[in-house]
Amino acid sequence: MKEPISLFRQLFEEELKVTPVKIPSACCFTSIGLDGFPNSRFVSCKEIIGNSFIITGSKTARKGQEVEKNNKVSLAFWWTSTHVQVRIQGVIEELDSSYSHRYFQERNRESQAVSIVSAQGEGLQDLAELEEAYTALLQQYEGKALPTPASFAAWVVQPFRIEFLLFSEARFHERILFEWENGAWSSSKLKP
Ligand SMILES: Cc1cc2nc3c(=O)[nH]c(=O)nc-3n(C[C@H](O)[C@H](O)[C@H](O)COP(=O)(O)O)c2cc1C
Repeated sequence: MKEPISLFRQLFEEELKVTPVKIPSACCFTSIGLDGFPNSRFVSCKEIIGNSFIITGSKTARKGQEVEKNNKVSLAFWWTSTHVQVRIQGVIEELDSSYSHRYFQERNRESQAVSIVSAQGEGLQDLAELEEAYTALLQQYEGKALPTPASFAAWVVQPFRIEFLLFSEARFHERILFEWENGAWSSSKLKP
């Protein structure tokens, strides 16, 4: 059995070749809410470094507050063209600012400007005010790079459990579970 990261890469590449989906890197990211309830939302998985999955977002938004308090998280992918689900459980850690800066600078300018002017998750009183701030910012920085906000974070999710569900035309779907134990991946098959 392959180890899970190369299997993930191989299956994701197969999906990328055929998918019409606009954001195929989207995955459901769940953290433990400040009230103890699991809290899920979609994020885009930026890349895999080593064995770990990178996501980005605002530290001051809900997800940032939650992972600061509880580092146990999960990611779930559903690849709609090749019919593969991947479930990942692991622990999350913030990366240093060289990473957040790089990922922020790779974003398109419009998304960067929104991140700067819009304190994600705060109550919205006046959309026109936000739009004005957005336009003013883009004018102020015309021809110059937008600064990476201090609240923008890159996090790494280090998995200890990864399960693949491969849909099959036949009756039984394939489930392969990998667990990180004593410094190595073990694998087993699960009944569908
Ligand atoms: C397809 C998709 C991709 C998204 N990617 C990200 C992302 O990479 N980072 C992010 O912070 N929010 C992303 N969002 C927005 C989040 O789902 C969410 O609305 C936002 O981060 C606020 O979540 P929070 O209040 O739990 O922090 C994405 C949403 C969708 C639908």
